[in-house]
Amino acid sequence: MDCKSHISNLKFQISDFRFLFQILEFKYRVRFQMELIERIQQIKTVRNAVILAHNYQIGPVQDIADYTGDSLGLSIQASKTDADVIVFCGVHFMAETAAILSPDKAVLLPEKTAGCPMADMINAEQLAEMKAKHPDALVVTYVNSTAEVKAMSDYCCTSGNAVELVASLPKDREILFVPDQNLGAFVMERTGRKMILWPGYCPTHVWIEPEAVEAMRKEHPGAVVLAHPECTPAVRAISDELLSTGQMLKFVPKSDAKTFIIATEIGIVHTLKKMYPDREFVPVSNRAVCPNMKKISLEKILWSLEDMEYRIAVPEDIAAKARLSLERMIEIVP
Ligand code: 13P
Ligand code: SF4
Repeated sequence: MDCKSHISNLKFQISDFRFLFQILEFKYRVRFQMELIERIQQIKTVRNAVILAHNYQIGPVQDIADYTGDSLGLSIQASKTDADVIVFCGVHFMAETAAILSPDKAVLLPEKTAGCPMADMINAEQLAEMKAKHPDALVVTYVNSTAEVKAMSDYCCTSGNAVELVASLPKDREILFVPDQNLGAFVMERTGRKMILWPGYCPTHVWIEPEAVEAMRKEHPGAVVLAHPECTPAVRAISDELLSTGQMLKFVPKSDAKTFIIATEIGIVHTLKKMYPDREFVPVSNRAVCPNMKKISLEKILWSLEDMEYRIAVPEDIAAKARLSLERMIEIVP
């Protein structure tokens, strides 16, 4: 064999070896994931635990959950579960809400740094100042908020029931709405009620630009644009439907459209594709990622159940007050 054919033969063997290595690596990853799932299922039974996952979680986490949903749906599940342990795959305020609604359960957040920047945009002192300026106003607080802020509120709401909740309030009362100015403005448009808004926002949703929506529309003529009310006014104005993630899941089967452009965190695309494999779902931007929602993995769920970490609890004096505003929230299911 001459030198040239020897080299090309060697190259062939190397690429062959690489391909074999990729297959082995893939097989190993699948086996590892299957083992993880099996171990989670076993320990879940031992602990009598339930796994709740928000629609923005990564695919494998959504797939192992007993219940996936939007903030409203998850709060309802947390309030009525008879499990001893709730593993909350979401962000801190969600686990805190579950702990307030189910004080006798152990609520675990598998990643303790999974927070919500919007929830931290208003604190108890700031709300106290706002209330002092408007002493007769009712306070409506988006569930994306801390327990202390909820405890100072008259009502909590989610994006799934904010319109119905505000519409049910006495017409002669001033309303303070915190912390999301975009959800607040959307509620004002839908109800015709004037409210005083706190200037908070979701960093993930405000990244979604109207130009990206227009570009997607051009690429997918006839597609329906579903946007979350946390989006900016410019995006809301050019979208076809403004819906919470749970409402998006219910909307699709009622529509004749084949393609949907999704203007919210990309995690919901996994849920939508799984539920409606005959339809097409295109995220408006692959940058619409909530980094905190993506911090939870199967490994962390297993560690969380093994070590019973990280336990989320709220002091009872704060929890008792926050519970009242949360109970008013879960009574309103549109
Ligand atoms: P929902 O549609 O579940 O209300 O989601 C909003 C959100 O951003 C949760 O953090
Ligand atoms: Fe908070 Fe926005 Fe992430 Fe929801 S998507 S948890 S509002 S930062």
